[in-house]
Amino acid sequence: MECLTEPAEVRRWGQLRRCAGSTVGFVPTMGALHDGHLSLVRAARDACDAVVASVFVNPWQFGPGEDYQAYPRDLDADAAHLAEAGIDLLFAPAPEQLTPADATTTVSVGGLAQHLEGPSRPGHFAGVATIVTKLLAVVGPDRAWFGEKDFQQLAVIRRLVADLALGVAVEAGPTVREADGLAMSSRNAYLTGLQRRQALALSAALFAVAEAWDGDADWARDELTRRLTGAPGLALDYAEVCDERTLECLTGHVSGRARALAAVRVGEDHAPTRLIDNVALPARGDG
Ligand code: PAJ
Repeated sequence: MECLTEPAEVRRWGQLRRCAGSTVGFVPTMGALHDGHLSLVRAARDACDAVVASVFVNPWQFGPGEDYQAYPRDLDADAAHLAEAGIDLLFAPAPEQLTPADATTTVSVGGLAQHLEGPSRPGHFAGVATIVTKLLAVVGPDRAWFGEKDFQQLAVIRRLVADLALGVAVEAGPTVREADGLAMSSRNAYLTGLQRRQALALSAALFAVAEAWDGDADWARDELTRRLTGAPGLALDYAEVCDERTLECLTGHVSGRARALAAVRVGEDHAPTRLIDNVALPARGDG
């Protein structure tokens, strides 16, 4: 595995691979890697000739008062995981190389970035969209992998790639969970033992609603809200049922494929940990 920090060198690396006829797969991450990230890396490795992963904690996607400074960073451990997973290139730029202070261009995705996570995290998706556009421009992959864990982010990136004709195939990987159901997340490291147990109510509520799903979006949203409002130690941010592609919030009877999505805050009021999760609500007859 090579490791590069200079965008110009990474661009050259990608050009050389593509000129040689290799397909290039890409997995962008913010590090603190767990099995969720590595499942995307393995999918890319199985599908492409050459695989690039990036580790970059993107300051542009953290709001004031969010955890940019505290976000877990361990590049040596990440590099070891990625080498073992069999990637070819690790792109690990310094902040000033990708997010210089004099940059004034942003990419903002309208519509589907405005609800769910949008109101709680103003500027977040513009920060994600801008850095992902830049990473894709530097690496120039044929295919790039994103996790369903961040389902709204995945939809935003699909929209962005289509709207700006970026010419990369956006691939989705399923959410990888701990044995008890909690979705893996770098932010789970912030939870105390008690909070970790309380956080389980999030996936449990989503599973219960998916299990009982009969196409009634109002029932599903209300049931999710009821379960999460009543869960000890959690503060509900939102619970919604949305169209799987457009992420439009649904009401009444749903015939197509939907997703239940929720966000909660766990822990102290002054410094809570925010957790998000979602599950598929299959179309009737989808099984
Ligand atoms: P990060 O949170 O590090 O996640 C990197 C990728 O791993 C994202 O596509 C995310 O959806 C996926 N992922 C995280 N947890 C997962 C899980 N439990 N199962 C499956 N996939 C999972 O998302 C970001 O970084 C950033 O916003 C980024 C896209 C890198 C832009 O800065």
